[in-house]
Amino acid sequence: MRSISLSRFLIEEQRDKNQIPADLRLLIEVVARACKAIAIAIGKGGIAGVLGSAGSDNVQGEVQKKLDVISNEYLLEANEWGGHLAAMASEEMELPHAIPNRYPKGEYLLLFDPLDGSSNIDVNISVGTIFSVLRCPEGSSGDEAAFLQPGTRQVCAGYAVYGPTTLLVLALGDGVNVFTLNRELGSFVLTQENLRIPEETREFAINASNIRHWEAPVRRYVDELLAGTTGPRGEDFNMRWVASMVADVHRILSRGGIFMYPLDAKTVDQGGKLRLMYEANPMAYIVEQAGGAATTGRARILDIQPTHLHQRVPVIMGSKSEVLRVTRYHTESAA
Ligand code: AHG
Ligand code: MN
Ligand code: MN
Repeated sequence: MRSISLSRFLIEEQRDKNQIPADLRLLIEVVARACKAIAIAIGKGGIAGVLGSAGSDNVQGEVQKKLDVISNEYLLEANEWGGHLAAMASEEMELPHAIPNRYPKGEYLLLFDPLDGSSNIDVNISVGTIFSVLRCPEGSSGDEAAFLQPGTRQVCAGYAVYGPTTLLVLALGDGVNVFTLNRELGSFVLTQENLRIPEETREFAINASNIRHWEAPVRRYVDELLAGTTGPRGEDFNMRWVASMVADVHRILSRGGIFMYPLDAKTVDQGGKLRLMYEANPMAYIVEQAGGAATTGRARILDIQPTHLHQRVPVIMGSKSEVLRVTRYHTESAA
């Protein structure tokens, strides 16, 4: 098979297909480089003393792991000086990070969840990095207001999964491509072109320990799946929950299914559990470009007009027919 590196893929997207401008190509290469550095740090684990808590909380009151802080630093440092960004925002920082004055500023905004699923890091289970790219509105310096754009405005989204292999999954507006890190060469290589989410599915992902907190439509849907061959679906469904959104959604993109972190009584006051701008939006953009769908149950995720940077939303995404069914159950229960 012809081996196509991420660099070559991006250059061809820019030059031959006119799909991305040079600045965006640079941005993606830099994010990919930071993901390689994160993969190396994660891979060293206890040898490098990077496991465990950092002894601090982030803006959302969650305990930060050392690798949350390290991954955030890697992404900030890598993206500061290239001249392609106006500002960056992260799960781990209350406010956007301005580009220091000594560096040129660019026209893009970068958002990231530097380490997704970080509760898994100390037990050697897959984690990831999620990122989203927006254009900085004209005349804006890249303050919080500049970031508050609906997910439909993303110009690129991607994630890295640090699992048995390190993958980079990228959506630039015309489909989804998967790159695998060749550790010896230190470069990402295209391993799957135009990923399409399978429509036929018998798998679902939800944290079932929250069952008593769920709303009626989600209960109805999951009850029907659990009833298997004896229920209205007439077939058995399997359940998986890694508790790293990246890993769960990657599995679903690969072999079909539905991922749900729905609104429930536990998270209703904060609007949901997962964060809109650097978890739900980029993953929804990727899922949609792979032919799937993503909703809160009541609205398409990508259409939501954000009101603050760390806003949370209910998330239901995956194979289209399943997502449409859960959406219908929400509509019927509201009627
Ligand atoms: P993060 O580690 O970035 O805070 O994200 C964790 C998220 C998401 O990855 C995962 O789907 C969910 O939290 C897991 O939640 P539970 O602990 O309720 O399973
Ligand atoms: Mn996360
Ligand atoms: Mn995180």
